[in-house]
Amino acid sequence: MNAQTPIGPYVRPAMADDAEGIAKVHVRGWQEAYAGLLPQEVLDRQSVAYRLRLWTDYLKEPPGQRWTFVAIDPALGVVGFVGATRAKPAIHGPAIHGPAFKIPVLYILQSHLRRGLGRHLMHALARALAEAGPGSVALWSLAGNRPARAFYQAVGGRLNAVLAERQGGARVTLAGYRWRNAAELAERTAPRQPAT
Ligand SMILES: CC(C)(COP(=O)(O)OP(=O)(O)OC[C@H]1O[C@@H](n2cnc3c(N)ncnc32)[C@H](O)[C@@H]1OP(=O)(O)O)[C@@H](O)C(=O)NCCC(=O)NCCS
Repeated sequence: MNAQTPIGPYVRPAMADDAEGIAKVHVRGWQEAYAGLLPQEVLDRQSVAYRLRLWTDYLKEPPGQRWTFVAIDPALGVVGFVGATRAKPAIHGPAIHGPAFKIPVLYILQSHLRRGLGRHLMHALARALAEAGPGSVALWSLAGNRPARAFYQAVGGRLNAVLAERQGGARVTLAGYRWRNAAELAERTAPRQPAT
């Protein structure tokens, strides 16, 4: 170990070799976060092999289409990740015009919650999106996912849509959050200055 070696979890852009770590966190993240919110058989059906195939392809996409960042615990590997893609302007209804980004995935293992990793992942992502060009930023959360909704509100997300749909055979209600642009999200997730 030297002075440069991180000792706690840190965030960096995802690389091709992260596909397996991301796939595992994707499945475990679903099972932990959605217990009691989605039918247990839907959670039991989640497959690392299936997610691994998807993430292997996603991480090969050319730059400028998809952005993925991982949270790495040096002792454990990938413990969280976030991803964004370009979205159709109408993602949250006809009121939103112009280019847009959507954030379909944000998962941190339960063992690593409330340590600032969600904020840190979103900040890294938002800075990359701001560099990629203009566009509002939007995402959907299960309406019953209270920790996630508290997080989105804490980082400045505005609730601007509620939608009922079927997911994996279950009827669910989704809450849509939006930021005017990626710079706004970057500002709201910026590292806090320690109090003096
Ligand atoms: C949503 C999620 C990414 C937040 O990540 P996190 O690393 O725990 O959040 P942070 O530590 O960065 O928290 C930032 C702020 O968000 C708010 N917040 C986060 N979790 C919260 C909770 N459970 N209850 C209330 N507020 C919360 C707080 O204001 C917090 O600041 P504070 O810790 O100084 O009070 C995380 O809970 C998660 O991955 N959950 C499981 C998967 C999931 O539900 N993903 C979302 C799918 S839509």
